[in-house]
Amino acid sequence: MKSAYGLKIPEPDAELTRVGPGTPCGELMRRYWQPVCLSADLVDLPKAVRILGEDLVAFRDGQGRAGLLFYRCSHRATSLEYGRVEARGLRCCYHGWLYDVEGNVLEMPLEPLNNPILKHIQHPCYPVREFAGLVFAYLGPLEKIPQFPLYDVWQKSGGSLTARMGPRVGGPVNCNWLQAEENLMDALHTFWLHTQHSGPQFPSQAYGMNPDELKYEETDMGMRFLLRRKLADGKWWELIWEMIMPLNVHLVYTDEPKTERVQAVTYCVPVDDTHQLGASIRWVPEDGHDQVSGREKLSPAGRHDQSYAYTQRHPDDKEAVEGQGPIALHGLEHLVTSDRGVLMFRGILRAAIDAVRSGKDPKGILRDSAKANFVRTSAGSIVRD
Ligand code: FES
Ligand SMILES: [Fe+2]
Repeated sequence: MKSAYGLKIPEPDAELTRVGPGTPCGELMRRYWQPVCLSADLVDLPKAVRILGEDLVAFRDGQGRAGLLFYRCSHRATSLEYGRVEARGLRCCYHGWLYDVEGNVLEMPLEPLNNPILKHIQHPCYPVREFAGLVFAYLGPLEKIPQFPLYDVWQKSGGSLTARMGPRVGGPVNCNWLQAEENLMDALHTFWLHTQHSGPQFPSQAYGMNPDELKYEETDMGMRFLLRRKLADGKWWELIWEMIMPLNVHLVYTDEPKTERVQAVTYCVPVDDTHQLGASIRWVPEDGHDQVSGREKLSPAGRHDQSYAYTQRHPDDKEAVEGQGPIALHGLEHLVTSDRGVLMFRGILRAAIDAVRSGKDPKGILRDSAKANFVRTSAGSIVRD
């Protein structure tokens, strides 16, 4: 018997988990465009957002331009979330300073007109880019700004793109981003947690998985897992889930076996070290099949019974992943064969952090204009004879 008396509780892995300014993983995350809110959020009021541990205020001026400003006013540091959206920018509630989307101070109404300070103050802000209903921001050094990645699954005719941002259905919210995303490369848990333990939380063909059918591999843009298994009718099913750098972007298929590419790019947005949100852009055909996830199909409105006892009897990713704690403690783990995807995930992340530390571009940065910003993906499901 090993007594728990005197058990040493380790510190979290600060390098891989901390996302605030100046932290190793935080600096890596800041080299890529990240979603901050929905375009539809930017209406007549400013929107307070928190991302990577930074508090910011997003707004859209009267000319339709989106901006993302540091939330404290450059005058006496009150929050700009109480400001007024105007034709030329965002006006602070306290003494009326007016900022445009690039942080220029356009007016200081309580100052003499010729006060030269107006020209000398630049309010901190970030570049933004709107795409398909999501507002993305680049929070890194301006000289390192990369191209905005455009994924192949978005560039199809005969349909349109739809954006979503908020808590994930059944997924974790109140914990570190890393444990939520490496959970996707811990593919075998699907065949325990979501089937044997809690009953079917995904389509039934996922039952009875053999660990040897799974393969993980590193790709140019991140990593992926591939599964190949024989179905009851003798056909072969190939399934691919894909992670894109900085490994908080994923393309995941959770429906019945059939031949179909994943049509949604999903982001895990680190709010701070212990909170996250989901965001996605999904291609929806004009007529025909809208690919909602298998999970949403089984439980379209989320979980009906929210009681603690129900979550104990039927835990989901939310319980398993948040159950690892606000920030998972790697020092308590004993990683085994089935964790090889998790090990690969952490190794790729560490290499990318090292690249940033040594002044290089990390994996998955698009800068070569000859290749443009087109990203080919492979995630989906194939059934063949
Ligand atoms: S604090 Fe914003 S204008 Fe004075
Ligand atoms: Fe899961």
